Amino acid sequence: MTDGYGFRGGRLPALIAAAALAALLGHVAPARSDEPAVAQRFMVVAANPHAARAGYEILEAGGSAVDAAIAVQAVLSLVEPQSSGIGGGAFMLYLDAPDEPGETAEIVAYEGRETAPAAATPDMFLDENGNPMGFAESAFGGLAVGVPGVMRMLELAHREHGRLPWAALFAPAIRLAEEGFEISPRLYFLLDQFKRFETAPEFRAHYYDENGEPHPTGYRLVNPEYAATLRAIAEQGADAMYIGSLAEAIVRAVRDNPLRAGRLTLEDLERYEAHRGEPLCTPYRERRVCGPRPPSSGGVTVQQILGILAHFDVAATADDPPKTIHLVAEAARLAFADRAQYLGDPDFVDVPVEALLDPKYLERRASLIDPERAMRRVEAGIPSPAAARRYAPSLPQTMVSTSHFSIVDAQGDAVTMTTSVQSTFGSTLMVGGFLLNNQLTDFSYEPERFGRPVANRVEPGKRPLSSMAPTFVLDREGRLEIAIGSPGGTRIINYVSQALVNIVDLGMNVQDAISAPHFVAQHGPIELEQGTPVVEHAAALEALGHRVVPRTLNSGLHAIVVEHGEAGRKLYGGADPRREGVALGD
Ligand code: DON
Repeated sequence: MTDGYGFRGGRLPALIAAAALAALLGHVAPARSDEPAVAQRFMVVAANPHAARAGYEILEAGGSAVDAAIAVQAVLSLVEPQSSGIGGGAFMLYLDAPDEPGETAEIVAYEGRETAPAAATPDMFLDENGNPMGFAESAFGGLAVGVPGVMRMLELAHREHGRLPWAALFAPAIRLAEEGFEISPRLYFLLDQFKRFETAPEFRAHYYDENGEPHPTGYRLVNPEYAATLRAIAEQGADAMYIGSLAEAIVRAVRDNPLRAGRLTLEDLERYEAHRGEPLCTPYRERRVCGPRPPSSGGVTVQQILGILAHFDVAATADDPPKTIHLVAEAARLAFADRAQYLGDPDFVDVPVEALLDPKYLERRASLIDPERAMRRVEAGIPSPAAARRYAPSLPQTMVSTSHFSIVDAQGDAVTMTTSVQSTFGSTLMVGGFLLNNQLTDFSYEPERFGRPVANRVEPGKRPLSSMAPTFVLDREGRLEIAIGSPGGTRIINYVSQALVNIVDLGMNVQDAISAPHFVAQHGPIELEQGTPVVEHAAALEALGHRVVPRTLNSGLHAIVVEHGEAGRKLYGGADPRREGVALGD
């Protein structure tokens, strides 16, 4: 079935510019058509053609997937500043492909999540009356800036899995920053919508003209300051950002912001550490699905959704889309109730990860689903007696930035990485040619509810709960089958789990699985992707007892599916038609 949920064809003609650019680059067909891109040796799928091109260059030069990830991130920071950058944070899984047939791939989870400064307090996002601040009142300026983590994380990963010299990986981004790149339709569109100048004159000066209008699509934007930052990082490593003059400039920008001063210090930057550890893996339909552990909820919640769906024959609903939507939505509603109740930074709260994914617990949760009728109320479960009622549920925030890329290198090793400055253009504070995140807005603004603490409340040195869900799926033989992830705030979890269901249960190819219209269920009505045929199922879903609303659902799924044949492997790339990404490979 390739037309799931009644979908036919692409929807964003404005992205033709990106397609044309990718075509000019002259490699594998960019994944802008309905067909996946195909390659044999290596592949990179990223949200911007320049970024994919940088990854391609590194892979072609014999670089590892981690090497390519560094080059891609350095370029994304320049060309897609609305979404991610070196002033932000990320979650990444690295897969070491087996050397011998019959061996299983090994996966390492890297985490470069932003942390709250040591001076952060649980009430820092409450107003003078003790009420949660509005998003706009808290997100722009210095207050919500967390210690950036992505470069420390990439440095750690490069030490362990880099093949090319660190300094070489910044060459494509430095070149592009010095020679300039054309502003893409999406960057222009978002700059035009944004026009938020009060907190950050540098932001305005860089992206807008003297009249406050954004530089137009196609305008060649140079960023010599960013080139200088990258040269420093190339020479000194990530230290160039965490100690010394650039670190001082970051701290000054945050603390001296006249509108909303933040609390970041030089010590916070100096003390920052990225982490590596075990991924979170659970079975699904004879495969293994692996994602990040908390402080991202991405792994736990995607895997809860799939673990609940494992109790239903989703494939049998292929010709009855409202049935598929009903089952996936109900599983998501149950998983999101647990997410709100239990998840936070495990260094600060006791997160019952294993209990939440225990097969018996998931079976109990699945038994709450009636295939013929929507649940009237959904509450968090009690995965273990110790977990019961310790924390109060928080409410999710939803935004429109972040970036995901997937890479497979010539050795078959792979990276799946989701990276973010949080909301569009992050804090808007610009230092050294890049934007600082506002990731602290991912904390619950309310420290407690109903007399109980919220697991995701702000605390000094704590990491805000993320939804980023870079995911690998291993096949029955333990080899890489799927690398995937998406932006979308908490909807990331819905986008990723829906795409996995599309591939694994409904047998779609990777491009169709990504392009298929979305539906999102969390705590409220089911959102149906506006302007797509999925809205035609509204009446059928209402008849099952659901509330539905149409909504723009701006995912950015970028995925690679690997087919292991007798003659070697084939890589299929899919890029989200809702953004400007492409798949390039060889
Ligand atoms: O870590 C998170 O889950 C969020 N900061 C991600 C934000 C995001 O995806 C914005 N969306 N499109």
